[in-house]
Amino acid sequence: GIKIATIGGGSSYTPELIEGYIKRKDELPIKEIWLVDIEEGKEKLEIVGNLAKRMVEEAGLDWEVHLTLNRKEALKDADFVTTQFRVGLLDARIKDERIPLSYGILGQETNGAGGIFKAFRTIPVILEIVDEMKELCPEAWLVNFTNPAGMVTEAAMKYGNYEKVVGLCNVPIGHNMMESKILGKKPEELRFIYAGINHHHWHRIYDKNGKELTTEVIDKLFSNNSNIMENIKFIPFIEEQIRDLEMLPCAYHQYYYLTDDMVKKELEEFAKNSTRAEVVKKLEDELFEIYKDPNLKHKPEQLSKRGGAYYSDAACELISSIYNDKRTDMVVSTKNNGALTDLPYDCVVEVSSIITASGPQPLNFGKFKPAQRGLLQLMKAMEEITIEAAVTGDYGKALQAFILNPLIPSGTIAKKLLNEMLIAHKKYLPQF
Ligand code: NAD
Ligand code: G6P
Ligand code: MN
Ligand code: MN
Repeated sequence: GIKIATIGGGSSYTPELIEGYIKRKDELPIKEIWLVDIEEGKEKLEIVGNLAKRMVEEAGLDWEVHLTLNRKEALKDADFVTTQFRVGLLDARIKDERIPLSYGILGQETNGAGGIFKAFRTIPVILEIVDEMKELCPEAWLVNFTNPAGMVTEAAMKYGNYEKVVGLCNVPIGHNMMESKILGKKPEELRFIYAGINHHHWHRIYDKNGKELTTEVIDKLFSNNSNIMENIKFIPFIEEQIRDLEMLPCAYHQYYYLTDDMVKKELEEFAKNSTRAEVVKKLEDELFEIYKDPNLKHKPEQLSKRGGAYYSDAACELISSIYNDKRTDMVVSTKNNGALTDLPYDCVVEVSSIITASGPQPLNFGKFKPAQRGLLQLMKAMEEITIEAAVTGDYGKALQAFILNPLIPSGTIAKKLLNEMLIAHKKYLPQF
């Protein structure tokens, strides 16, 4: 039977993960599920872990569900390891959002200064995890959702020298669902081709006969005006610019294509003490109250209010595709190896891939137009430098990443903001 270890098991997303395994019970011979957390997450682990146990029992399955604070015990002989931890918990995310906004600069979980600092806090921990994996479960696949998912995955590969790692995100799923609805079709009736990096990719849409529908979706998008991701405040893109791209942007491009408008919106939330992290804190408290109910034996509806809805289900599909060599078409963060000719071979990209027993095989995309290429190469270079800074604790590199990041102004402000954030997050930055 399969042993799966989930690091950050106390996450409110865990019931979706369990539901995803239960849905696939006939294709995944699971024996043990280990949910790992740390002392600060003990209470959450207990509550969500007990719900996981009730869900498995309700489904009539004999899987063992273990709750532990001992990571090594959980990793020992694991077949799959999934990571969904948050170093510094939501209080650190509140700082990532609020400190930049206090300078009138965008603060966001995975973008701008906030995203860079989440990488700084998380990368040392992922490197510890892969070191332990090399010793305790060297054949295991690591499925990473911990944000910033692209950079964390790249760090594990490049600096942890761990090859069997795949990054996952729910943004492509959100687009597939919304855009097939716009076309009056089911996602299975369409083909989506994605290329770029995590939270910074573009895509095209085709029908099953190969006819491209991208322009049709762009047309309909501007008469639709609906939100894609729960966690991103919706502002419509500028039509002429999107038409010129000839590809659909992802929801996170709002921060880059509509920066001023997005900052203005976020500053309103900042003033009301209701930035996304503050909203999530309340949502999470409500969710855990619901999870405590001993009569609850299924994933509750309220979980769909979280921005990450469906990503755990995608993780289960990824695991099953690897285990069963299903060759499913999925969008994952994986080593480029030439799939995107505009980016280095050894970097991690987020692309449509065929998921086989030997891992994701990224589909060859080729070259972008200058409009996409310019921003993409800048963002990837910024990521490479951020990862290097996270590994080495080099101040010059950290500042370089800030200056390169399009959401952070250069010069004195960059330096001041960096210094303030280094102090605020000191407890979780042993490398600096
Ligand atoms: P959360 O705040 O609930 O944290 C999850 C758990 O991680 C907590 O129980 C916490 O105690 C634990 N934790 C913290 N540090 C740890 C460590 N060093 N080792 C083990 N566990 C530790 O977070 P969440 O909102 O459930 O999100 C979890 C992670 O998944 C975050 O990094 C988030 O950004 C990411 N996420 C990714 C996607 C995606 O698209 N890939 C979607 C949603 C969330
Ligand atoms: C998104 C993303 C995640 C992101 C999350 C935030 O849609 O794909 O990577 O971090 O949702 O959701 P939250 O509910 O925590 O704001
Ligand atoms: Mn994501
Ligand atoms: Mn900059």
